[in-house]
Amino acid sequence: MDATDMGNDLKEILVTAEDMDRRLGEMAEQIDRDYAGRELLIVGVLRGAVMVMADLSRKLHTPIEMDWMAVSSYGSGTKSSGVVRILKDLDQDVAGRHVLIVEDIIDSGLTLSWLKANLQGRGAASVNIATALRKPAAAKVDIDVAYVGFDIPDEFVVGYGLDYAEKYRNLPFVGTLQPHVYSN
Ligand code: IMP
Ligand code: MG
Repeated sequence: MDATDMGNDLKEILVTAEDMDRRLGEMAEQIDRDYAGRELLIVGVLRGAVMVMADLSRKLHTPIEMDWMAVSSYGSGTKSSGVVRILKDLDQDVAGRHVLIVEDIIDSGLTLSWLKANLQGRGAASVNIATALRKPAAAKVDIDVAYVGFDIPDEFVVGYGLDYAEKYRNLPFVGTLQPHVYSN
């Protein structure tokens, strides 16, 4: 899928595919330095983090294992409910492991702070967070995000894994939608 498939639903491209690829490369270098000599369990948060997991993990030289969690906090609307529910738990035991949670976006930060505490509670040796995108509100929550791709304005975005009502996840870039899309 690309911009031409979107007709006039696309408002603006915020992060191009090339920008994302370059930034993930920088993040991977930093992660490799930080975890030198250690093994890492990277935990992708379904479904939005699928693209970041695929692209970031392939740039890493650190030995990794991959696992997935599915949590829900959003429904099909555009506002965070603040309620986090585990839809799919990890298959692996995280006790004693160095865990890196990989996310598509941090908005309110509610999902991530809950998830981080949850994994720490299971006895992980360390829990850090890597996210492709971060919105301004996240800065207000007391959550330490070790690796951030791009800080973006407080607008609803789609693409690169992010959806609106389950659509647009397969856009290679991150963009905003025209208002008429939301009123359909
Ligand atoms: P938070 O709990 O408010 O930080 O939001 C967590 C989740 O909401 C993210 O992992 C996304 O799945 C979803 N989300 C937040 N902002 C957006 C957006 O702009 N577009 C699409 N999904 C979003
Ligand atoms: Mg998500």
